Amino acid sequence: MQKIKTLLIEALAKIDGTDAKLLELTAATQLAFGDFQTNVAMQHAKKLKKNPRELAQEIIQAIPENDILQSVEVAGAGFINLRVRPEVLGAEVVQLGQDTNLGIPQSGKGQRVVIDYSSPNVAKTMHIAHLRSTIIGDAIKRLHLASGYEVIADNHIGDWGTQFGKLLVAYKTFPKPEDISEDSIEYLEKLYQNFNNRAESEPELQEQARAELVSLQKKEEPNYSLWKQFIQTSLKEFDEVYQRLGIQFDTVHGESFYNDQLQSLVDELKHKELIRESEGAQVAFFENDQYPPCVIQKGDGAFLYATTDLATVRYRIQTYQPKRIIYVTDSRQKLHFEQFFSIAHRAGWHCDMQHVMFGLMKFAEGVVMSTRKGAVIPLRDLLDEAEKRAFQVLEFVDYPDDEKKEIARVVGLGAVKYQDLSQNPASDIVFQWDKALNLQGNSAPYLHYAYARVRGIYAKHQEKFPEDSLENASIVPQLEIERDLCLYLLQFGSVVHRATQTCKPNLLADWLFGAASRFAAFYNQAPILKEESSAIRHSRLRLAMVFSQCMKQGLYILGMDTLERM
Ligand code: ARG
Repeated sequence: MQKIKTLLIEALAKIDGTDAKLLELTAATQLAFGDFQTNVAMQHAKKLKKNPRELAQEIIQAIPENDILQSVEVAGAGFINLRVRPEVLGAEVVQLGQDTNLGIPQSGKGQRVVIDYSSPNVAKTMHIAHLRSTIIGDAIKRLHLASGYEVIADNHIGDWGTQFGKLLVAYKTFPKPEDISEDSIEYLEKLYQNFNNRAESEPELQEQARAELVSLQKKEEPNYSLWKQFIQTSLKEFDEVYQRLGIQFDTVHGESFYNDQLQSLVDELKHKELIRESEGAQVAFFENDQYPPCVIQKGDGAFLYATTDLATVRYRIQTYQPKRIIYVTDSRQKLHFEQFFSIAHRAGWHCDMQHVMFGLMKFAEGVVMSTRKGAVIPLRDLLDEAEKRAFQVLEFVDYPDDEKKEIARVVGLGAVKYQDLSQNPASDIVFQWDKALNLQGNSAPYLHYAYARVRGIYAKHQEKFPEDSLENASIVPQLEIERDLCLYLLQFGSVVHRATQTCKPNLLADWLFGAASRFAAFYNQAPILKEESSAIRHSRLRLAMVFSQCMKQGLYILGMDTLERM
């Protein structure tokens, strides 16, 4: 596109009164008309008092001689349709396959981003509601890495708060929950539930919990050690899930990490006149009451969620000088982020702060998630179920059991991730097994299959033509469907770029689905192994290989593995 633009700019320069800034080049809406089109003649016609079709013709005449374009034509009310020579298009695709970044602009070079995601609360089983933050956050991380950014992935776990007072009371004074190992998260969860159940009829328990919390905040023993133990138990469990999902963090700075910085934070905000006393508390107010007031420190000296987040921003900016900080949480926290972003900006802690919000995840059967009532589906169980169902599909496939298990693992996890990532993060989503594991529609198995299919074709080709090498093979698209696939693959880099900038992995998911569908159509019409002309066979196989490279990289960015056969 860039090369064609250059030719058109040169052409416009030869015509008085034209402005190259008005030049827009887009992919053609219908391949039959060309590969690209521009309405630049229509843009100028009025100003230059010319007939748009005639002006289009004039621009075409002025295009310098070149070996890129095959044909240029006027169409409709004055559009210019351009078609690229097939060997030029093919050469671009060969080059794409040879580029280590597969055409992804390295726009993040030399810049840092901090991504705050997953961030579950300690002493509770990680469940479905944490899944979206973990999966979307990881895809955003991988998008930024692919675009050349240096990424700091931070798991801002909720490891401080009133729940520990309750846990300490239950741990120290309640009978031990039976049949549950003490160093498991279920044990802590049971304690917490027992506390809430009993507190309804024994209000004095709340008072005790507050006292235990104060003692913990003073780092008194045994509370401080017990608290550490609860965290270790939780992290051990979280790590199991992360490992399964292929998720890695660079830092796990939970809320407690910032405890010692909270008083100085309040002092700094006071000094900058960003908070003031109101009814005994320290409160931030907003211009024109754009947001409700935000309490930064309570009358009794206690700090809040927003206080920690402000200390966290200050720390991250001082420590990492990031270009961007991205937070991934559900949309119910929208106001919280708007409030503390506004305070942080006024405090002079500048960087591009983005809250990537997502909607709720529901189950098709209508199961609603809730941490309190115990109607929780642990994440672990969902992943087990996904693998089990994927394995069932393979029941009659004649592969060794180990391989079937590995396929089921990749497809099952891929299905859970893709079901989420293929939808706009902001929407509420309904998790449906039949949709997630469908082999036909926009689903993980469909994409896995498209990739494995090319690998299969390649392996067969090696077998059938062991002497053949693709190294010097050129791609020359002949059929319309081949052109279409070439043009589509060439968009890979710009799609990844856009998905990174907007923090929308679903743009990449859409592209992958489009690529897999085009590949299926291509393979239908353009056989590879049966083709007798070796030049055509090589061209098609090489095109299929570049397709598979983009698929592998695209799936990798979405956190999905690939399979050599399925
Ligand atoms: N622990 C919080 C929760 O589960 C999410 C934290 C998100 N990150 C942040 N910096 N506030 O709701």
